[in-house]
Amino acid sequence: MYLDRLKLTDRVAVVTGGASGIGLACVEAMAEAGARVIIADLSAEAIEAARGAMAAKGYSVEGAVMDVTDSVRVEAAAGEIVARDGRIDILVNNAGIARSEIAAEEMEDERWLNVLDVNLNGAFWCARAFGRHMLAQGSGAIVNVGSMSGFIVNRPQGQAHYNASKAAVHHLTRSLAAEWAGRGVRVNAVAPTYIATPLNAFADREAPMFRRWIDSTPMGRLGEPEEVAAVVAFLASDAASLMTGAVVLADGGYSCW
Ligand code: NAI
Repeated sequence: MYLDRLKLTDRVAVVTGGASGIGLACVEAMAEAGARVIIADLSAEAIEAARGAMAAKGYSVEGAVMDVTDSVRVEAAAGEIVARDGRIDILVNNAGIARSEIAAEEMEDERWLNVLDVNLNGAFWCARAFGRHMLAQGSGAIVNVGSMSGFIVNRPQGQAHYNASKAAVHHLTRSLAAEWAGRGVRVNAVAPTYIATPLNAFADREAPMFRRWIDSTPMGRLGEPEEVAAVVAFLASDAASLMTGAVVLADGGYSCW
């Protein structure tokens, strides 16, 4: 009974940025739970590589080329997916960039706008486009990938743009949750610590900055993509039926100190 509620059998699920890192782990977790998963990412090549990796594990997943900052394309992709699969049950708003390690006083307009555009605007365009179909069918679950950086300020690197974008994603989560709760659509977020993915590969593992990250984390380690995906799959499932507007920390205790 309880484990059944974690199943996603035949649910149609879209994962933005699903070709890499945390997104790819979410694709695998939800495919294992029985969902029909669509990887939405920037390039057909990256999607094909990810589909190949999933096929090697026994999962058949679909792909949709989509830049989350292009609201017209996002609308079109949502329409195409619903026309083909008949419905949309789960959206994981995972696509994100960091472009971190920049002092606020050195921040270029282009960098600030780019990070806000992908992390915040992209999440909203996708929630709006896919959310409309969920509202029409009277059910759905959206999971936004936020960050502990929406709660704390990372040290020692400057990343005011990223931190602000993720705090906004968290409050967008609560805002959409409140608007849509009475119409069958739940909206939650996960807020991870540093996860071992290409996004933070810029950090030299021997450098003082990396040591500081680890020393600031009670668990004393990075997280793994599958440790975030497990939370995402739970929030997307009926096991989380009472949860909406929640921002769930998966931070190895980072925010305790
Ligand atoms: P990643 O760099 O491994 O993967 C990001 C994926 O998003 C890539 O496949 C990329 O092509 C795609 N993407 C980027 N811009 C896009 C766009 N405009 N439209 C569609 N797809 C786009 O990164 P990672 O680490 O897996 O990050 C995933 C999410 O997790 C991001 O939102 C990130 O901010 C968040 N996060 C990551 C943490 C980390 O330490 N890696 C910590 C906390 C949150």
